[in-house]
Amino acid sequence: MLTQIIIFGASGDLTARKLIPGLLASHATGQFKTAVQVIGVARRPKSDDAWRAELAEWIEPDAQAGWADFAPRVFYRSGDVRDPVCARALEATLDTLARDAGVEPGQVGRLFYLALKPALFTPVVACLAGEGMLAAPLGETTAWRRVVVEKPFGTDLASAKALNQALRSHLHEEQILRIDHYLGKETVQNILSFRFQNAIFEPLWNSKHVESVEISVCESLGMEAGRGGYYDGAGALRDMLQNHLLQILAMVAMEAPSSMAPDAIRAEKVKVLQALTPLSPAAIERDLVRGQYVEGPAGRGYLDEDGVPADSQTETFVAVRANIANWRWNQVPFLLRTGKRLDGRYTQVVLRFHTPPVDLLNGPVPDGLCALRPNALTLLIQPEEGIRLSFLVKQPGPGMVMRPAELSFDYASLGAATAPAYQRLLLDAVHGNPTLFIRGDEAEAAWRFADSLRQGWLDTQAPVVSYPAGSGGPPEADALFRGCEGIWSRSEAQQ
Ligand code: BG6
Repeated sequence: MLTQIIIFGASGDLTARKLIPGLLASHATGQFKTAVQVIGVARRPKSDDAWRAELAEWIEPDAQAGWADFAPRVFYRSGDVRDPVCARALEATLDTLARDAGVEPGQVGRLFYLALKPALFTPVVACLAGEGMLAAPLGETTAWRRVVVEKPFGTDLASAKALNQALRSHLHEEQILRIDHYLGKETVQNILSFRFQNAIFEPLWNSKHVESVEISVCESLGMEAGRGGYYDGAGALRDMLQNHLLQILAMVAMEAPSSMAPDAIRAEKVKVLQALTPLSPAAIERDLVRGQYVEGPAGRGYLDEDGVPADSQTETFVAVRANIANWRWNQVPFLLRTGKRLDGRYTQVVLRFHTPPVDLLNGPVPDGLCALRPNALTLLIQPEEGIRLSFLVKQPGPGMVMRPAELSFDYASLGAATAPAYQRLLLDAVHGNPTLFIRGDEAEAAWRFADSLRQGWLDTQAPVVSYPAGSGGPPEADALFRGCEGIWSRSEAQQ
């Protein structure tokens, strides 16, 4: 048996930086269940060898030995696959390559990876389907056909629905793999294992014990590699919050699934996303902050970046105080924050627990002061990978003085490096496991909430506030924590 992985958009950055190294790593460690061939497709004519030489530059020195074995399985074809003639030629090539490897085309599974501009998703799928290249009965395990769709999956609810509809007119839902690379991160997957394979945390995981949940995805990157043009049409809400942050939120907030079956897990995630309360106009002004970086310690401002219009109102930072209106979470603020050109790169989730009902040591808290919140659970997603549980202990000595302490776990202590996200996701796509891909209704539920935020700021004309490049973000975001709830976390490196 053979698996052919056909990458449309082969000359793009993603293919060279993430997809090929990921496929190589899985091949080199023997993780594919069948032999594989990779066929890159892009418009510019190029020989197999020329493409292999380009890709080789991106392979890390310690993977070069594996590359020597993998490179002969990598091929390149030029063409525009919106054109049926070209699609037919591609199919003939795929069949020939399979036969060259001693496998009849009827024994080949094919994964089509759309690393393309979103405008091309539908035309390419329609063309492939029109030539019968995507036809596979439900549950087909040998000559299966699947399509991986890169983000962004639409730009709002209406376009995501239209895209779902277009894809489903050619494919079964089980053939469509909508990617969100955050789900390929070990530490994101571990949220579910940590919650549902341990009995001690789950009883605390609700509004009775959790006072707030923070999800921060902070980036120090700005508009490197000429990204300004794309980014300006997206902004932090569409680029990060609608997908990566809401996926983390779903993993943190979902109910236990009835099994580990892909749809059991995804159904629970959908329910959480559907329970997100859209923000009212009053809440938009109070609970949502949009920011844009201006010149600061980390360099120039967003409006001076290449490809960004001088009067752009696009947000490079967004923070929101969200509510999940279900029995477990209603009234527990989910504080979401993401931004570019911040003072560090770190992604973490912090569950802050209520303060003890009575402070036996110190008595009632004087007016105007806050009781200490000693207990927090921090899930470090990246670049630090680990878990921290904080609490108070008695300072040794005659008096009763308390001091903060922590239980901590680091992935590094396990001795095995965590696999890059794309490696894991490609492997799952080849093996037909959709658990870590976004189901169509999940994408729509996430867009419904994101759209409510965007519509809210359009209606209320909420301003975009500024923050210096390299700072901790706009101070206005601090007010999303109310009263004594706390403040935004910092990375471990910053503490
Ligand atoms: C991408 C966004 O989806 O995720 C980028 O389009 C962002 O803007 C990137 O920089 C962050 O990914 P990671 O894995 O580096 O946190």
